[in-house]
Amino acid sequence: MSARSEQRRDQRAAHAEARARQRTLSHREHSQAPTLRATRLRRPAERTAHQVSTAHFQAAYPAVAEPGLGSRGVYIGRDMHGGSFVYDPWVLYAANLLNDANMLVIGRPGYGKSALLKTWMYRSRVFGRTCELIDPKGEYRQLVEALGGEVLTFTPGGQTRLNPLTRIGSREMREGLLEAIARAMLDRQLTQAEALGLSAALAAADEHADSRDVCIPDVAVQLREPTRAMADQLACTTGEAQADLRECALALQRLTHGPLRGMFDQPTKASEHVWNAPAVCLDLSNVGVGQGQSNLAVAIVMVCASAFLDAKRRDRANAARAAGRAPDKTTRGNDECWRALPIAGLADYYQSAFKLSRDSGVQHILALHRLSDLRSAGDDGSRQQRLAQGLLAEASTTVVYRQHAQEVPDTADQLGLSSTARDRIAHLPPGVALWCVGGRTFEVRHVLSDLEWALIDTDQAMGSRYAEEPATDVDDDDVQLPAGVPV
Ligand SMILES: Nc1ncnc2c1ncn2[C@@H]1O[C@H](COP(=O)(O)OP(=O)(O)OP(=O)(O)O)[C@@H](O)[C@H]1O
Ligand SMILES: [Mg+2]
Repeated sequence: MSARSEQRRDQRAAHAEARARQRTLSHREHSQAPTLRATRLRRPAERTAHQVSTAHFQAAYPAVAEPGLGSRGVYIGRDMHGGSFVYDPWVLYAANLLNDANMLVIGRPGYGKSALLKTWMYRSRVFGRTCELIDPKGEYRQLVEALGGEVLTFTPGGQTRLNPLTRIGSREMREGLLEAIARAMLDRQLTQAEALGLSAALAAADEHADSRDVCIPDVAVQLREPTRAMADQLACTTGEAQADLRECALALQRLTHGPLRGMFDQPTKASEHVWNAPAVCLDLSNVGVGQGQSNLAVAIVMVCASAFLDAKRRDRANAARAAGRAPDKTTRGNDECWRALPIAGLADYYQSAFKLSRDSGVQHILALHRLSDLRSAGDDGSRQQRLAQGLLAEASTTVVYRQHAQEVPDTADQLGLSSTARDRIAHLPPGVALWCVGGRTFEVRHVLSDLEWALIDTDQAMGSRYAEEPATDVDDDDVQLPAGVPV
């Protein structure tokens, strides 16, 4: 072929390609306004915005495009696909949108779980709400001081003592606590004789103590030397009852030794005004330090502290009702709860505490790393699953911060997330979470004011982790706190 005909062939091919491109471009731009320059795809800023109704957008992005939860409640931040995100479990409960006020906050370390708890409590205060905190790392002091509250620090053999078996608690709660502690210490299920023996020993200790407060060692004494009445309940001789209950007695006895000594085994020693403060924090950061089984120690302290706070709150709620007032609305935050939940018996305890405290105006918030933390060690697969689902069922709100990729399928299945939401939870930047509220899902950036930063910055000591790795997928330049948010 000559050079001239080769050139003509190239020109024809170039014209055909240009026509084809023009056809494609005009087809792609058919939803935009006609333009004189139809041959060039306009830059994003030149294009007219594509408009779609909220109904259509929700159909395309069901997990991330929700119209919001209304404007009543505590400001949390920005709905990534809408305006401000405001949340109030009590308002939503009253509107029949939630079954309870409880919340699980899950997420990998350093993605903002504690920051959410702190600001939630700080911002809720303007609504007259009070808070109770179980703080295993000792990081809530600044918040509690800002709220004008009280911090009780627990140290083995120290000055602060709470009696979780205080008689102001209900019988069910006291028995549930003993069972949970015994199971955790024994690291196994209780036998029928042990379960029955514990409640009989509590009754015997109450009777024996008359009006004096019964403490855990009093129950251990009854278990070591069972009475005739206790043996009758177990349908055996006192010698047989003693043998059956011996291990349980020793397990409770251990509370008076080692890292747990002196904190929950004697009558309460803390002034009464603490319980009327707007915020009460139980600082457990000195518990179990340097111990091989530090999680067990912290976990036992957590449940004992929870039991005591539950009993006190129940008492306050009854007093308020007797005076014709509604009980105070209280948030109970249990940070680092993942340290307690895998220990045998403790997930059951939390689940029943969630149920029992429903009538006393409390919102429980548990912070953990992943939903698989809810599965109790020492339980078989199906029971673990039931426990996890039970706690999830008792918490109508789950806030999911970034999850490790291998946790995503389980988290998505347990929460019933769509494939869009499933993709998001493995990539969320710090401070952004998926809020699953009564079956609806929102992607929310938790916005912090300057003053709140001072309360939440747990990175200070380490130097900022994110300075070199900014959260690039979020543009919050224009984020403003609305009027009314305490700063
Ligand atoms: N809303 C937010 N926006 C931006 N950064 C945040 C936000 N919340 C937290 N951070 C950053 O993440 C750091 C860790 O936050 P936080 O202590 O709440 O994490 P965490 O999830 O509780 O971690 P851990 O599981 O280790 O306790 C904070 O010090 C702060 O720098
Ligand atoms: Mg934390």
